[in-house]
Amino acid sequence: MTAAGSTPVLSTHGLVARYGDFQALYGIDTELHQGEAVALIGANGAGKSTFLRAIMGLLPVSRDMVRLDGEPVGGTQTDRMVRKGVAIVPEGRRLFVGMSVEDNLRVAMDQAARAGASGGWSLERLHQLFPILKEKARTPVQSLSGGQQQMVAIGRALLCQPRVLLCDEISLGLAPKVIREIYAALPEIRAVGTAVIVVEQDVGLAQSASDRLYCMLEGRVTLAGRSADITRDRIAEAYFGAGHHVGADHGMV
Ligand SMILES: Nc1ncnc2c1ncn2[C@@H]1O[C@H](COP(=O)(O)OP(=O)(O)OP(=O)(O)O)[C@@H](O)[C@H]1O
Ligand SMILES: [Mg+2]
Repeated sequence: MTAAGSTPVLSTHGLVARYGDFQALYGIDTELHQGEAVALIGANGAGKSTFLRAIMGLLPVSRDMVRLDGEPVGGTQTDRMVRKGVAIVPEGRRLFVGMSVEDNLRVAMDQAARAGASGGWSLERLHQLFPILKEKARTPVQSLSGGQQQMVAIGRALLCQPRVLLCDEISLGLAPKVIREIYAALPEIRAVGTAVIVVEQDVGLAQSASDRLYCMLEGRVTLAGRSADITRDRIAEAYFGAGHHVGADHGMV
């Protein structure tokens, strides 16, 4: 899937990002190929969400630091990034409270239609992926469970017809059964050629759901490799920093 020489659908090149005087990312090099799933792990504050935000044009970055199909797009406005085929399921979901499930989804469909985006995702297709969204179509989103809300958030991103889907901690706070249901959707999403980056706190889940994995620590990539080949020891070292004693109390799950 990462055929040598093929142009990645998305890549970052020495990506740096700042919040005022605070530097959050120090030269992040990554690539993502068509249909691939890449996991991004790291402790709280490592810079995972910042990385996704920087790609989406939510932070100022130089043109050359982000490329889509090899074309420099760094700093492109978020709505234009969506139009170019990159969609995000943001941290905290950010649904339109007071609106029904279907109305939340229709906002995304209307935006995609206005932008001239076309692709395989429709309400019907989404209802096959997450049948509960059909059942709850008229329900206000705030009445849904956390897992159901996450499905709406993913659905909304898919209806933008992305070639690249960025997911920020989609399992956070959810029960294991619901997490499995949500992650079971990933292969179906990838089957249409969409490449996925999942930011994930659960390292085991990140490893099992991805082809490749990047670990970040304090704004730098400390480990990159094929998920199936990386040992837990190497992950722990990259996650906490070399020389850090790894015990059961460090929160790496
Ligand atoms: N809006 C902001 N203003 C200033 N600093 C910020 C802002 N957002 C994040 N940061 C800082 O940037 C660093 C990276 O934060 P980021 O949210 O990207 O981490 P993360 O890896 O997503 O963490 P988490 O697992 O807690 O979501 C942290 O030190 C954080 O305090
Ligand atoms: Mg985050």
